[in-house]
Amino acid sequence: MTNETLLLDIENLHAQYVNPHNQNEKINILNGINLKIYKGKKHAIMGPNGSGKSTLSSVIMGHPHYQITQGDIRYYNQQTSKMESITGLLPHERAKKGIFMSFQNPVSVPGLPVTQFLRASLQNIRGKDITVKDFRKELKSNMEALQMNPDLMKRYLNEGFSGGEKKRMEILQLSLLQPRIAILDEIDSGLDIDALRQVSEGINRLVDNERAFILITHYKRLLDYIAPDSVHIIAEGKIIKEGGPELVDILESTGYEEIVKEAKLAS
Ligand SMILES: Nc1ncnc2c1ncn2[C@@H]1O[C@H](COP(=O)(O)OP(=O)(O)O)[C@@H](O)[C@H]1O
Ligand SMILES: [Mg+2]
Repeated sequence: MTNETLLLDIENLHAQYVNPHNQNEKINILNGINLKIYKGKKHAIMGPNGSGKSTLSSVIMGHPHYQITQGDIRYYNQQTSKMESITGLLPHERAKKGIFMSFQNPVSVPGLPVTQFLRASLQNIRGKDITVKDFRKELKSNMEALQMNPDLMKRYLNEGFSGGEKKRMEILQLSLLQPRIAILDEIDSGLDIDALRQVSEGINRLVDNERAFILITHYKRLLDYIAPDSVHIIAEGKIIKEGGPELVDILESTGYEEIVKEAKLAS
């Protein structure tokens, strides 16, 4: 018997990319994903380039360019204590329910002050106004905890930010918004060793029994800082292998190709 609480249940998920300029152009990307995410756990999703990791995150968030053709995504409703399908909800509605995603390539928005963006996100999630004064206070304590340079707040969203600054900005959002599920898509990409350590420490500080983290990465090095509870390997739009943290080392020594081959033989 397990007493783990399921937060997100992805069942036989098939999804395709639909070209927004030509609705007839569709590409199947996810081919039957089964994935269970538990409260208080850190899940690592690993897989080769182009295996569908970012697509999976986009589909969980409800990105309009992707269409679910089969399967379901269900999320735990705290009020009713039941799992409910979220596939009919818009991205901001999913965010409001506590699902957060950090982008592999965060966008820059010249002209949008960082503080304005963060305050608006927070107000949307909490569903109420937050005074500038209260917001500043909250922002300051979160930035101090993450050892962020306060000057970043004088700038426009991600404009001219270094790779490390962008990722730290994502972690700042995470620490302000306190989502129940955080999907971090290659939060380690483009970071040097010091930035990786700081970003990882920022994430570790947010880990608690109420939240779940989905860490998408190619590399072991992120998982050396943030120890995952379970590891899911994705290839060609399917989860082909799951296990505990030991899988990371197996993967590191065997390589993706070998694991994909084994999984194909076994199926
Ligand atoms: N917007 C898109 N247009 C065309 N192809 C896409 C799009 N998004 C994803 N794909 C394709 O789907 C596959 C999975 O991509 P992606 O989810 O980004 O993989 P990963 O994040 O694992 O590297 C790739 O073959 C990619 O080319
Ligand atoms: Mg990706």
